[in-house]
Amino acid sequence: MRTDAGAAPVTPAESAGPLSHVRSWRAGVVQSLPPPGVFDLGPGYLEPGLLPVDLLGAAYARALEEYGSAALGYGDDRGALDLRAALAERTAQADGIACEPGNVLVTAGISQALQLLATTLAEPGDVVLVEETCYDLGRLILTDCGMRLREVRSDSAGMDPEALREALAGERAAFVYLNPTFHNPTGRVVPVARRHELLSVASGHGTPVVEDDAYAELNLGEAPAPPSMAGLAGYHGVIRLRTFSKTLAPGLRLGWLLAGTETVDRLAGHGLFRSGGCLNHTAALAVAALVRAGDYDRHLDWLRARLRQRRDTLVDTLLAELNDGFELDRPDGGFFVWLRARHRRREPDLLGAASGAGVEVAAGSRFGGTARPAVRLAYSFNSPSRLALAARRLAAAWNALPAHTDRT
Ligand SMILES: Cc1ncc(COP(=O)(O)O)c(C=O)c1O
Repeated sequence: MRTDAGAAPVTPAESAGPLSHVRSWRAGVVQSLPPPGVFDLGPGYLEPGLLPVDLLGAAYARALEEYGSAALGYGDDRGALDLRAALAERTAQADGIACEPGNVLVTAGISQALQLLATTLAEPGDVVLVEETCYDLGRLILTDCGMRLREVRSDSAGMDPEALREALAGERAAFVYLNPTFHNPTGRVVPVARRHELLSVASGHGTPVVEDDAYAELNLGEAPAPPSMAGLAGYHGVIRLRTFSKTLAPGLRLGWLLAGTETVDRLAGHGLFRSGGCLNHTAALAVAALVRAGDYDRHLDWLRARLRQRRDTLVDTLLAELNDGFELDRPDGGFFVWLRARHRRREPDLLGAASGAGVEVAAGSRFGGTARPAVRLAYSFNSPSRLALAARRLAAAWNALPAHTDRT
């Protein structure tokens, strides 16, 4: 099935909801759409068929039935207690530490949480330390709030603790922004020892760490992911940002942050909450019921199986078809494959060839400094069969690229 606007087709077996909704993926309704006929491996979205229309429809109905008009009033400033209690309990279980509703603040997703942190814990002109390559739109939110970003040298295990030490010795920073688990765009996971080192350097300078954990629940590997940095630090000096955008639906605009109670109190005092209460109260009550009933966990299992299939299709096809001029890893979780050019290639050539083959990809340079030309490929927004086709097209186009010399 195809939409008029060319969004990813959905087959019934893969769909989480009635297929009729796919037809409404059009400009003016959703944020962006690929041009018709293009395979879009650019955005970090779930494909339409992976968005749980039926599950959320029932959850909203249940919330309205259970809470009645209270579901439609201004919500508790910090977010409905039922949701915060459920999230605190999950966190305590996962991290093996005490976590109470007072450690949780419901947000309108990580994007809003970043803006809140930049306007509450920092002043315009303050420095924020970021990984050399990291979530481009997170960077944009921070710079739009007047933050001056400093990239700190990073390698395949994440930000380099020595480089962080040097950066903090040279300049005061409002906070360090990290995405240590299933990183966007590289997919990497910071090992436990490196997490401890980074925490020790940051806390030695009294600098808070902001841990963006957008993909924490999308572990597609066999082994458990390392404990969160916030959990390792007992939530002292670390603010952990979470979201339902990648596991349920971004349209909910529902996320939460976890921090020490003093930090949560300070953030919850922001005029935005004092004026409007919880930013997404009805959604918060709907999702609270899903989490409490175990439906969210069942949905996560369903989703992880489908993402694993998509990841493996994309990685296996690329590994089989690409020549040795390219390098990629099979990510243990999240949405992305980070593909690097081994020989002399230029990013515009990679993008141009992909585009010529009818495939959109995300330019590596969008995410900051990269050692070599790279592109990010999302496996979340297309079915396995489309990913296989797109990967074959990409491989054929990229294999045919001549190595760049100064004369070409
Ligand atoms: C690392 C990271 N943080 C935050 C976000 C945005 O999250 P939200 O939809 O909760 O604002 C994304 C989405 O692409 C992301 O990849």
